[in-house]
Amino acid sequence: MANDEALASLRWNVRDAAVEIIDQTLLPHTLHWLRLHTLDDYCHAISAMQVRGAPLIGITAAFGLAHALACDASDAALASARATLLATRPTAVNLRWALDVVAQAVAPLPPGQRAAAALDSAIALREAEIASCASIGDHGLAILQELARVLGCSAQRPLQVMTHCNAGRLATVHWGTALAPVYKAHAAGLPLHVWASETRPRNQGTHLTAWELQQAGVPCTVVADNSCGQLMRAGQVDCVIVGSDRTAANGDVCNKVGTYLKALAAADNGVPFYVALPASTVDWECACGAEIPIEERDAREVLWASGVDASGANQSVRLAAEPTRAANPAFDVTPARLVQGLITEHGVFAASPEGLARLRKALGAG
Ligand code: MRU
Repeated sequence: MANDEALASLRWNVRDAAVEIIDQTLLPHTLHWLRLHTLDDYCHAISAMQVRGAPLIGITAAFGLAHALACDASDAALASARATLLATRPTAVNLRWALDVVAQAVAPLPPGQRAAAALDSAIALREAEIASCASIGDHGLAILQELARVLGCSAQRPLQVMTHCNAGRLATVHWGTALAPVYKAHAAGLPLHVWASETRPRNQGTHLTAWELQQAGVPCTVVADNSCGQLMRAGQVDCVIVGSDRTAANGDVCNKVGTYLKALAAADNGVPFYVALPASTVDWECACGAEIPIEERDAREVLWASGVDASGANQSVRLAAEPTRAANPAFDVTPARLVQGLITEHGVFAASPEGLARLRKALGAG
């Protein structure tokens, strides 16, 4: 995969001054680009998960705030649009981070200059996100190359990487976080294969990760979430790389529900477990994982399944008999002790208070 604007999952159409996103709720069966016209469109895109993944949620919100300021640049409108966008999803901290960056850039300006400055800020954030993910890919590539060297990987014995949910280009703007090292390794000719766990209940692994890896020509196999422990026990996984929605200052990692079980299985089987994230995913105000708000989503996501039938028509089927109830926590927290390292755009850091302090220092923030 190259640094190719055509692969971006959110684009700023300069000619029409419009934001365009891939509607991820329609993947993998339909690739549909959607234009966002109103603040409601931006909020709906995030809450309905037409865009999802922590970094992409943040970038979408930044453009949403710029859009709101183009309609009304008053202090009241800025505060109200920021609050409305912030309420769309609770767990990914990149949402708050990106809104803060844009709001802080425009707040000191007179209202007449705010819309243009907000748009400049959103465009710059998007560029920085792409660069961060490319850099995460470079740092992760070094880890994969070393693992492949130690294991004697070859075309006959490719490096086996497991991932969860989707932390690829669809979750960021380009490259991804967990998948950036995979794309870099594939481009460098390192033979590898990805186990993509399906990620019930919304199936981001099946719908999104498998789709984008196939588009890039990376060998990939979808597996049921519950089979991942068995694959590790059988020696079929060389490393696990996942993304993060919010990482606490002590190194605890919040990510898509099911991540914690993979980390436990990895620890029990001596499989290195890495988390790839931009520094914008660290919540410095959050001392430990227990403080992270876990999104509870609609029970229908668990009780129903949807897909397309043989004719390509969308179908939804109810899985459980009435009146079965379901709980649907969308994220979990993996304790720092289970994480081998945090792969960031600034290098690889220990998942510990000391490691995070070093990352903060690298950011120039103390
Ligand atoms: O609910 P989602 O699909 O927004 O959750 C996304 C994830 O959990 C990703 O793994 C995480 O955001 C990392 S994205 C680079």
